[in-house]
Amino acid sequence: MPSGLGSVTGTRYRRPVRISVIGCGYLGAVHAASMAKLGHEVVAVDVDPAKIERLAAGEAPFFEPGLPEILDEALASGRIRFTTDMAEVAGSTVHFLAVGTPQGPTGAADLTYVDAAVAALTPHLAPGEFVVGKSTVPVGTAARLAAEVEAAVPGATLVWNPEFLREGFAVQDTISPDRFVYGVPEGADGERAVAALDEVYAQALAAGTPRLVVNLPTAELVKISANAFLATKISFINAMAEIAEVAGADVTALADAIGHDDRIGRKFLNAGLGFGGGCLPKDIRAFQARADELGVGESLAFLADVDATNLRRRAHVVDLATELLGGSVAGKRVAVLGLAFKPNSDDVRDSPALDIAARLQELGASVGAYDPEAVETARRLHPELDYAASATQALEGADLVLVLTEWTVFRELDPAEVASLVASPVVVDGRNCLDRDAWTAAGFTYRGMGR
Ligand code: UGA
Repeated sequence: MPSGLGSVTGTRYRRPVRISVIGCGYLGAVHAASMAKLGHEVVAVDVDPAKIERLAAGEAPFFEPGLPEILDEALASGRIRFTTDMAEVAGSTVHFLAVGTPQGPTGAADLTYVDAAVAALTPHLAPGEFVVGKSTVPVGTAARLAAEVEAAVPGATLVWNPEFLREGFAVQDTISPDRFVYGVPEGADGERAVAALDEVYAQALAAGTPRLVVNLPTAELVKISANAFLATKISFINAMAEIAEVAGADVTALADAIGHDDRIGRKFLNAGLGFGGGCLPKDIRAFQARADELGVGESLAFLADVDATNLRRRAHVVDLATELLGGSVAGKRVAVLGLAFKPNSDDVRDSPALDIAARLQELGASVGAYDPEAVETARRLHPELDYAASATQALEGADLVLVLTEWTVFRELDPAEVASLVASPVVVDGRNCLDRDAWTAAGFTYRGMGR
């Protein structure tokens, strides 16, 4: 391999790095395939044999645009292999930790998988190699793990390189992120870690992606504070929606107007059902729990309000449905369009849409639910709902239509056609994604969020 710039299937890179990725969930599977796409030699490990088997067969275990293509390409190139055998990571220069940190019973992050991954990795680690944490962890975790790694394998270095990928854009966010954050120790080990990560990310760095080198706790905090900020921004606009509803204002117009101020910005100001998914809800709770442990709980007390405002949105839609159905949902047919926590995803973890569907069913409604990708994942959590094979099937005979995830196919529904399917033309636009005038013109009673 010549030093200097080379190219593989159009991808520019400096030198392939031998990489291991530990954990093949959302983060790990996308990271592993993306690293292979960049020309690196990747071994990806997971304790779940079924997951490894599917990935090795080129099958993405979840819906993520672009992932099947880069996975196929990586497998065909021979640059990636999947295994359950941790011993196969031996000889990699960079070992990425990409295991989950779910919410534990107290709200704090459960670090079982991170601790288990480090314990399983260290016997195969050699001096001069780098353990690179990507998982979202409570501040202070990296320093503890760094000491454990150094004690087990003197000369091996642990650093933290948080991930900011969004589901639905995960491949693009991994290959060309907004920024890189490297949390490294001071001194020569830190400098060598920076050089190693620079090789891994050579392509994006050459294209000008900013890279910030900070200490370990700063890197951990960058990640969690970014998610806390995003959650706060969403709850802020949803709080404005609550005010707009009683004051007769339109929160969408309000968001457009304040969003023109560069300091505020229009992104993440879409009022609706609020945030769900595998990250924002658990991260704000874990962050509060960690602040409490550190004796600075007051600093993040506002996140309890952010959480409460967010959860109120779901209750609000259930109340609205009850009101629109004349005081009780019992025995009424409700069409729920959208189950995923956001469009372009089959993820229903803490999904506001699925939560609302389940609550209505519990209150006696007969819910007919449809989602372009998330029916199967939803069925696993809520088998009691009646899942439709199409939007049309869900809509037939409905007394009320709820649009709860803003998939393009729902935005583009023809309201006149929908009117011909339903029993009663009443729609709740839980994501303010429909053309209000068009739906009203087609005879619908339209209720948006905060407008
Ligand atoms: C989030 C962050 O955006 C990523 O930067 C981060 O890397 C990731 O968590 C993570 O920690 O792994 P993600 O969970 O994929 O990414 O989803 P987002 O696009 O942030 O959306 C989160 C939720 O907020 C969705 O339910 C979405 O519908 C909702 N949302 C978003 C709103 O209600 N309004 C908005 O204006 C924007």
